[in-house]
Amino acid sequence: MQLPRYTATQIGFHWISALLVLLIIALPYGSGLIFESLLGGRGEVFTLHKSLGVAVLVLTVLRLCYRGRKVPAQALKPEESIAQQRAAKVGHGLLYLLLLVMPISGLMFGSRPFSLFWLVEIGPLPLSSDVRGIAKEVHLISQYLLFALILGHAAIALWHHYVRRDDVLKGMLPFLR
Ligand code: HEM
Ligand code: HEM
Repeated sequence: MQLPRYTATQIGFHWISALLVLLIIALPYGSGLIFESLLGGRGEVFTLHKSLGVAVLVLTVLRLCYRGRKVPAQALKPEESIAQQRAAKVGHGLLYLLLLVMPISGLMFGSRPFSLFWLVEIGPLPLSSDVRGIAKEVHLISQYLLFALILGHAAIALWHHYVRRDDVLKGMLPFLR
């Protein structure tokens, strides 16, 4: 049976956000290797990290508003067991949570303003140094949960495609009808 597909808007949100998140993670880790020489210094690497992080926050809020009005394709797969449907719901819910927690905690812990895409200055938010300290811990620790979720999520998508040979991955791929 053909599984329902995500809409073009959902697919666009998904792959743009996924690409941005991978780049945001690559920037600090690949800073000395490649990005500092490409962008002209560590400060610029973090300007891009922070700016893309804010872009992901905006995209995620828009995506959740859109999702609230549109039944997600994932909820329309009758042949999946209840346990599988629940696991997918929890996994996707946690991914959305981290797409909010990572940029918000990042915005909270900065103590100096930063330049959003080198255009406008943002922050710092008026928070105590204790709150900043907690936000920084949250940012640095949550990254590992995000890595685990992304790896597990991509592995499950590939398992559906290559082992179970169903249409779950196809439902999220662009240019397929
Ligand atoms: C989806 C959004 C984001 C993700 C996935 C993300 C992820 C990360 C990761 C993986 C690191 C590297 C940590 C390490 O070296 O151990 C990091 C560091 C950092 N992030 Fe983000 N980040 C996001 C958004 C933001 C935003 C919006 C800001 C600020 C406006 C920000 C500010 C920082 C700073 C300043 C560091 C360096 C922390 C330090 O080592 O002192 N991030 N982030
Ligand atoms: C940073 C990386 C990624 C993030 C943050 C992410 C996030 C998400 C989220 C939140 C959903 C739920 C969409 C909804 O129902 O509203 C989703 C669905 C999906 N993602 Fe990802 N994703 C990422 C990478 C990937 C990759 C690399 C693949 C493929 C190898 C993939 C394949 C899928 C598929 C097939 C679905 C639909 C699952 C279903 O309907 O049960 N994603 N993703």
